[in-house]
Amino acid sequence: MRVLHAVGPEWIDGVRALFQAAWWAQARTHADVASNLVHSTATAGIVDDDGTLVAFARALSDGSHRAVVLDVVVVPDQRRDGLGRAVMDALLADPTLCRVESIALWCKPEHVPFYELFEFTDDVSGMRLMVRGAVDGS
Ligand SMILES: CC(C)(COP(=O)(O)OP(=O)(O)OC[C@H]1O[C@@H](n2cnc3c(N)ncnc32)[C@H](O)[C@@H]1OP(=O)(O)O)[C@@H](O)C(=O)NCCC(=O)NCCS
Repeated sequence: MRVLHAVGPEWIDGVRALFQAAWWAQARTHADVASNLVHSTATAGIVDDDGTLVAFARALSDGSHRAVVLDVVVVPDQRRDGLGRAVMDALLADPTLCRVESIALWCKPEHVPFYELFEFTDDVSGMRLMVRGAVDGS
């Protein structure tokens, strides 16, 4: 098992394979994923001993005040085995994220306990999430 602190274009097919298990990302093309990787300010992955990408996460950040975490996915048959925690730890340690004032993400209710492990909260002091475009992306 090894941690990738940056997921480069050589992993596009691996990320697409992982996205098959992500309901919001299944339709992404090779070009979409290439764009996702090149335009993210931080990416992280976990590769198993066979060389397969088994976890992925990415983020967009301004480096100081605001960031958003996106596309956190673990391969289905290895969930609840610590990979999600490992890939989030690697992502949040990125220099573009570790000093940011606030980091946002959106997730389903069942994943709130997972993100609470990293000090995310769904108590947003009355603020509203507003979205232009599809509302069910993650
Ligand atoms: C969410 C996801 C990334 C978590 O990855 P994971 O490898 O299963 O998580 P971990 O094993 O590191 O879990 C660490 C802890 O988080 C919490 N947790 C993880 N998944 C959880 C779930 N579905 N419900 C409640 N708590 C959960 C638990 O406290 C868990 O510790 P435990 O297993 O000892 O109880 C993974 O389930 C996944 O890929 N889901 C499908 C894609 C998805 O919906 N991603 C989230 C997009 S917002």
